[in-house]
Amino acid sequence: MTSLDLSQESLQELASRWIFRQPGQRIKVYRDTTDFFRIEYGDIVVLNGNPFLIRHNAKEGRFGLDDQEKFWVKRAIDLRSGMTKVLKFVFLESFQSRIGEIVYDCFRSPEKEARILELVSRCPNFMHGYSVRDDHGNIVRVLDLIYGISLADHIQDTAVGMDHETYFYQYFPVVLSNYIRCARAIRLLHEHGERHGDIRRDHIIIDRENGEYRWIDYDYDFHNEKAVFRYDLYGLGNVLMFIVGMGDIVYHDLKRANHPALDRIVEDDLNIVFNNRIANIKKVYPYIPDNLNRVLLHFSKGAGTFYDHATQLIDDLREVAPAP
Ligand SMILES: Nc1ncnc2c1ncn2[C@@H]1O[C@H](COP(=O)(O)OP(=O)(O)O)[C@@H](O)[C@H]1O
Ligand SMILES: [Mg+2]
Repeated sequence: MTSLDLSQESLQELASRWIFRQPGQRIKVYRDTTDFFRIEYGDIVVLNGNPFLIRHNAKEGRFGLDDQEKFWVKRAIDLRSGMTKVLKFVFLESFQSRIGEIVYDCFRSPEKEARILELVSRCPNFMHGYSVRDDHGNIVRVLDLIYGISLADHIQDTAVGMDHETYFYQYFPVVLSNYIRCARAIRLLHEHGERHGDIRRDHIIIDRENGEYRWIDYDYDFHNEKAVFRYDLYGLGNVLMFIVGMGDIVYHDLKRANHPALDRIVEDDLNIVFNNRIANIKKVYPYIPDNLNRVLLHFSKGAGTFYDHATQLIDDLREVAPAP
């Protein structure tokens, strides 16, 4: 790669397609991203000789109020190619999470996200990108922006004005076959000793170019010696429940609506991670086939056995849907 002229004049010229600048106004240039809070819209970050023009911070959430601004995840334009990227800076945090009887130590690992980016570069069900060290040794991830909406938003949009039975017969089969592809992508990670770490319905983006469901956000990791992949599997279970139910089936909503299923629902039917959601969805929607409901019951409070490997979940789903 030829090296670019990174003088102030040259950077201003390169950026002029995207930003308007008063004459004489200088662009702030960073080569160390440790203090990412200071890096703002219109600044430039130089990584390995490549200038990136910083745009907005990423947000998570949807309807404005609960959006969390993520100062460490920024949209940026790669000034060499003109492509929009997502830059993810090093932000370390750790916490504990408890599911059932098991406690998991969770933490962010930029190294892990960097390794996974290399591992999945040819798998269509993941976001793609690379990592690069800034001048201070921070591992910055340079991600290709996926254009599309999250699975969470897709299901919520589909649900507007639609009854569950119509959804289940007309839309769910396609969603399920895409979900199985995503579960197989997670199995690929596990086969290589890696974990996703933050499996959620808003961490799947449906690529609007080809309809492919693609995982994002791989920097969380978790430790539990006895249940190495289980945390990911709980995540897969929660996403499955969400797509089967056309949204979460929340106990209190059923109560408020005085739903006839209430008499049948017992403690064991609740989701093992989120105790206010129903896992035994067949009790609410009786047309759900047994073989699918049996999969959901693995993620209920009453579950006797649990999945330890993604393969077990995928095999059970193969009975429900032909291999995608
Ligand atoms: N490759 C990507 N393509 C499109 N949007 C992305 C991509 N990576 C991240 N985002 C957006 O930025 C948000 C925050 O990024 P994420 O990696 O989830 O950060 P965090 O680890 O802090 O949750 C995501 O929820 C998503 O909306
Ligand atoms: Mg996230």
